[in-house]
Amino acid sequence: MSVLIRGVRLYGEGDAVDVLVKDGQIAEIAPSLPADGETTVIDATGQVLLPGLVDLHTHLREPGREDTETIETGSAAAALGGYTAVFAMANTNPVADSPVVTDHVWHRGQQVGLVDVHPVGAVTVGLAGTQLTEMAMMANGAGQVRMFSDDGKCVHDPLVMRRALEYAKGLGVLIAQHAEEPRLTVGAVAHEGPNAARLGLAGWPRSAEESIVARDAILARDAGARVHICHASTAGTVEILKWAKAQGISITAEVTPHHLLLDDTRLASYDGVNRVNPPLREASDAQALRQALADGVIDCVATDHAPHAEHEKCCEFSVARPGMLGLETALSVVAETMVASGLLTWRGVAEVMSENPARIAGLPDQGRPLEVGEPANLTVVDPERTWTVAGAEMASKSANTPYEEMTLPAVVTATLLRGKVTALRGHVGEVQK
Ligand code: DOR
Ligand code: ZN
Repeated sequence: MSVLIRGVRLYGEGDAVDVLVKDGQIAEIAPSLPADGETTVIDATGQVLLPGLVDLHTHLREPGREDTETIETGSAAAALGGYTAVFAMANTNPVADSPVVTDHVWHRGQQVGLVDVHPVGAVTVGLAGTQLTEMAMMANGAGQVRMFSDDGKCVHDPLVMRRALEYAKGLGVLIAQHAEEPRLTVGAVAHEGPNAARLGLAGWPRSAEESIVARDAILARDAGARVHICHASTAGTVEILKWAKAQGISITAEVTPHHLLLDDTRLASYDGVNRVNPPLREASDAQALRQALADGVIDCVATDHAPHAEHEKCCEFSVARPGMLGLETALSVVAETMVASGLLTWRGVAEVMSENPARIAGLPDQGRPLEVGEPANLTVVDPERTWTVAGAEMASKSANTPYEEMTLPAVVTATLLRGKVTALRGHVGEVQK
């Protein structure tokens, strides 16, 4: 089984080439290659070839809330969005705090076969913030957990966080922090600022995030450990990251597509679809986040794909569940905010959506160069086409996209996982010749 991708530009640079994929690898790259009858031909004239996208932050809701997403539907959404690897957060029910759950997530993802679903292990038992999990057992299990996070909740006790960083360092795994000082966000539902005040929504201050980012940078420094900051959302966080990196602290950070594109002026509709943690901030924060991503202060884009049922979003704003879909729209939102604005080239997109996340998580076969002999984890993007987002048409089991009816640039036309076509022209799965 081989696949020939015709007329594509590697990273959107240089002349168009044909790329032959065979036995799970890039077998040949040349100006023009022949196809035999057994070869699936993808006409990608004028399109861009990227290494398969890697998402460090996704919520797939299995086990526990399979009514909103499953590993199967989430994998389909990921493949359509151009992803070849995703990290499934631990805030499931039961929580992914033991190998029973993390091994299941890994095996189920492999069975579905559309994307590598890497389980994230919880840092504390039951996400309760007090007792560290048996990280080593999860790391050494079938799921080979390499990233731990209580995401959804912050590891807020500084001593627990310190011990977690020390333990993680010894194991060579990564702690990803949902930075939210809970004493500053009691009852909070929206970014603390003029908009929330006018709308009568309880405010979530920037300091809730920034105080934890600063604290964890210092804890990581003293432990000699790495720390990763989930969904950075404020201009102040960018300044702290700059400072920490300048000190040589091993800190990395991600930004979500929604924090790059959207801001809290959207809350005027009181539509629960706009509720998310951390909240949509001000336009000046979004601008600072874009610049930080372009400058490398923020390392990567991660979706925080967070499916919710209709009744959990179509309700009073203050009781709506926080979270937005992201897997199927991430690349287009990055194209809109970063490429169309001239902040990043497609080469840069490959860095922030594939190479950097693969490096941060330590995935050896993802985010690899587009060269002969490399694993064929690939994403083909048509940069010239636009599309209009419709939640009801998404592969995700939920429909809570904040981009409903928005027309966005760039369409993922094909995704390949180890040479297998996992998405083609908007359809999931291998297309038989
Ligand atoms: O908006 C969010 N939704 N933020 C989180 O941290 C968790 C996530 C979820 O699980 O729905
Ligand atoms: Zn989070």
